Amino acid sequence: MYRFRRLRRDERIRALMQETRLHPKDFIYPLFVIEGEKIKNAVDSMPGVFQYSIDCLDEILDRVKEARIGGVMLFGIPACKDPQGSQAYARDGVTQRAVRYIREKYPEIYIVVDVCLCEYTSHGHCGMVRGEEILNDETLPYLVKMAVSLAEAGADMVAPSDMMDGRVAAIREGLDRAGFTQTPVMAYSAKFASAYYGPFRDAAQSAPGFGDRKSYQMDFANGQEALREIRADIEEGADIVMVKPALAYLDVLKEAALTFDMPLAVYNVSGEYAMVKAAAERGWIDERRIVTENLTAMKRAGAKIIITYHALDAAAWEKDQ
Ligand code: PBG
Ligand code: ZN
Repeated sequence: MYRFRRLRRDERIRALMQETRLHPKDFIYPLFVIEGEKIKNAVDSMPGVFQYSIDCLDEILDRVKEARIGGVMLFGIPACKDPQGSQAYARDGVTQRAVRYIREKYPEIYIVVDVCLCEYTSHGHCGMVRGEEILNDETLPYLVKMAVSLAEAGADMVAPSDMMDGRVAAIREGLDRAGFTQTPVMAYSAKFASAYYGPFRDAAQSAPGFGDRKSYQMDFANGQEALREIRADIEEGADIVMVKPALAYLDVLKEAALTFDMPLAVYNVSGEYAMVKAAAERGWIDERRIVTENLTAMKRAGAKIIITYHALDAAAWEKDQ
């Protein structure tokens, strides 16, 4: 009889046997930057998460620096929205200014920026709109402009999350043409149309004004199609490919890890965070243990990078292990 329990007898041998370990460098922390001054708005559905104006960012950036996590992912919330999302690619847009600020004051922080128009468009969709239709090819030049303007501001990496076809190739070509050949693209490749994004849309003020995102984000019933999406993004030149959300999609993540020899990211999204926080606040679960279990499962399933609102807490817990 094989004696599995010999290797589980106490903490010391269990530590030696542990196959998957979290590290603060695994994590990217999403950050919401809002236009204006002296703003620190709590996001009700995401306890512990705030929208910051640029002049109030130091508080959180100091914590990011102290936690020595892998980086931040920025989401900008402009004061003015229009159908073309022009603040997304304005030289002095709130996101561009936030990038410049962090680049200058916190050179050690790795800055990823989410590239999508939905926080900037008056209709809240991720692309250009004609009637009720979300246009694909017409959207691509705007995404390219946004990516290039963020690279110019000093972003280390761009992460297109819009799910338009062909955007990775367009952005890669646009970055290269503008001289940003060394700026990686992390593609939200298998991004599902998910109810788990609900709290984020409050945080980023980006809920669609009509309809839903099902004509561009994926049907959560489809695993094979997710692999085709990932393959397409790799062929278009993505440096890192992502599966999103995380917990209900670890099968997709695992299959991608087995299929592609590529760095994988996973996005532990707002609804996943909100559920954990809500139950923890009621004392129904142990937050630290649940979060550690969830994040470890994401890494075990094949994620190299974990984008998570728990990043700062999880980094602190790993340090005092
Ligand atoms: C923008 C974007 C979304 C998220 C990341 N980038 C929302 C959406 O697609 O509606 C979701 C992140 C989260 O829920 O934490 N396209
Ligand atoms: Zn979007």
